[in-house]
Amino acid sequence: MDSFSPLFISDKDFDDNFSGEIERQSARHWAPAAIVKRAAKFLVDKPGVKVLDIGSGVGKFCIIGAACNEGFFTGVEQREYLCLLADRVARKFNVTNVKFIHTNVTEVDFSQYDAFFFYNAFYENIEPDDAIDTSVDLNARLYELYTAQLTEKLLAMPKGTRLVTYWGDWEPRGYNLVYTNGNDALRFWERG
Ligand SMILES: C[S@@+](CC[C@H](N)C(=O)[O-])C[C@H]1O[C@@H](n2cnc3c(N)ncnc32)[C@H](O)[C@@H]1O
Repeated sequence: MDSFSPLFISDKDFDDNFSGEIERQSARHWAPAAIVKRAAKFLVDKPGVKVLDIGSGVGKFCIIGAACNEGFFTGVEQREYLCLLADRVARKFNVTNVKFIHTNVTEVDFSQYDAFFFYNAFYENIEPDDAIDTSVDLNARLYELYTAQLTEKLLAMPKGTRLVTYWGDWEPRGYNLVYTNGNDALRFWERG
């Protein structure tokens, strides 16, 4: 059985598990390994923290995050085939502290989790040319709906809840910005 060596997981190590379109989408749609490692380290501030990736794609954030940290990572993903691919890679590398749920994020009970990662997942609704594919409904009304629900779900979390956002200018209500990288793409938040 292969296993990831946490220190050496690179974008290529991960992307090499896919071919064709999924691999080509990597640079645009899946978080870079260096970003994942920084974000996951902030979110797992003690062993056992339960992290939710809101829109998990092929599982890059969850699998690398889980391989490098003592938290438990769950990805929620609306495209079933991406969930199945993520499961396959997690199994291949024997990463056991991770799972993927095929559903819409609107269906998820956030109180089951301690910390959250959000890579601008709803953007394809307002920029369809940038969409992963056309297998799901995409429109501006859904962008508003998903964003409003995400805002409310995160607002209901207790003080101290950690969140990392990557790209996008949406700001989580009730959260304080703790730290950001130079270009503001990667932002670290804590519930006030
Ligand atoms: C930019 S990709 C990020 C993938 C992953 N978080 C990462 O960093 O590698 C966003 C993903 O969110 C998913 N997504 C978008 N809206 C969603 C929703 N309402 N519920 C569940 N998944 C959603 C998309 O299908 C896509 O795979």
